[in-house]
Amino acid sequence: MPTEIEKIRRRFSAFRLPLAFFDGPGGTQTPDTVIEAISDYLRTSNANHGGLFATGRRSDALVELAHEAAGAFLGADAGEVAFGQNMTTLNFSLSRAAARDWQAGDEIICTTLDHDANISPWLELAHDKGLTVHLVDVDDDCRLNLEHLRSLLSERTRVVAFTWASNALGVVNPVAEIAAMAHEVGALAWVDAVHYAPHGPIDVRAVGADVLLCSPYKFYGPHLGLAFGRRELLETWRPYKVRPADNNPPGHRYETGTLAHELLAGFVAAVDYLGEVGWEFILERERALGQRFLDGLPSQWKLHGPATMDGRVATFGLTSETEAPAAAAERLGNAGYAVWHGDNYALEIMKRLQLPDGVVRVGILHPNTEAEIDGLLAELAR
Ligand SMILES: Cc1ncc(COP(=O)(O)O)c(C=O)c1O
Repeated sequence: MPTEIEKIRRRFSAFRLPLAFFDGPGGTQTPDTVIEAISDYLRTSNANHGGLFATGRRSDALVELAHEAAGAFLGADAGEVAFGQNMTTLNFSLSRAAARDWQAGDEIICTTLDHDANISPWLELAHDKGLTVHLVDVDDDCRLNLEHLRSLLSERTRVVAFTWASNALGVVNPVAEIAAMAHEVGALAWVDAVHYAPHGPIDVRAVGADVLLCSPYKFYGPHLGLAFGRRELLETWRPYKVRPADNNPPGHRYETGTLAHELLAGFVAAVDYLGEVGWEFILERERALGQRFLDGLPSQWKLHGPATMDGRVATFGLTSETEAPAAAAERLGNAGYAVWHGDNYALEIMKRLQLPDGVVRVGILHPNTEAEIDGLLAELAR
């Protein structure tokens, strides 16, 4: 009898490659059902939307289905989500729409833990409009310093932009608490859930997010970006769009041009995959695999960030005094272990930790096996 994890792994052709994937934070592999959904759409339904013929109708139905799946995935209404090229592009565009009437002297709070995709859009706005950007610092264990955040909040704060989980160190932020702090001064809670999305369920209403972004290619889907915006905001902001494009539902106002329909088909299959595996299984398994990694980490490797699995996901940023991150990643890659190296676009935390070469990043996900982790630990020990 195959075990649960063997059954899961058989769903991915990619896992037949002689490579252990610890590069999930850069992008996950896709189950074959996602690949088939993409090619099936192109074989049977390929058309622009709005066509009064069979493939046009099937495309319209798919676009609607993908928005419904996205809404259900995020705990939102189907009309409150927008697909885009990737998270970064959506974030530049949404932040621009949100800030059309902001004034010089308005303030934005970003964090030291964020990926640059949730910092640079605000820096660029600040550059154009004379806004001030503050950066929330971290504590010694690399958790966000909420007292510092509190001290930065004021009636000029328009947005608190923060990540749900750090893509470099795996730290998970108390999202609902931070959102509530933002709301106390009338600011928007603008959440980057890209790194968190493959690791646990998202409910935008439960955490009080005003805007939340993620990237389906980080949770077993194709290369796409996905954004949620609270209905009133999406309806109020003036989007950068062409005049004939749909205004209804409001999420569509932020989708420019023709969507990548075939990838929407893949997205629906990815959400189905996650539903079949289930968050309970994923949470329990990743915690156990992460603990196994932490228990076996050779002493020459320094872990940056929380030392236990509490308040973190199984993404680990490591440095060694004797091997630079790029050299280690290359050595591990040659031995059959895909890990990432460098700053992983998390520039601020690397500056704060004085790590100009960044870290070796090991990302563990539920399809990883115990044997892969033990093999990686043995390679790290060399
Ligand atoms: C935490 C986080 N935010 C944002 C991004 C940017 O995502 P995208 O490639 O979809 O623009 C990444 C990508 O690595 C990420 O890890």
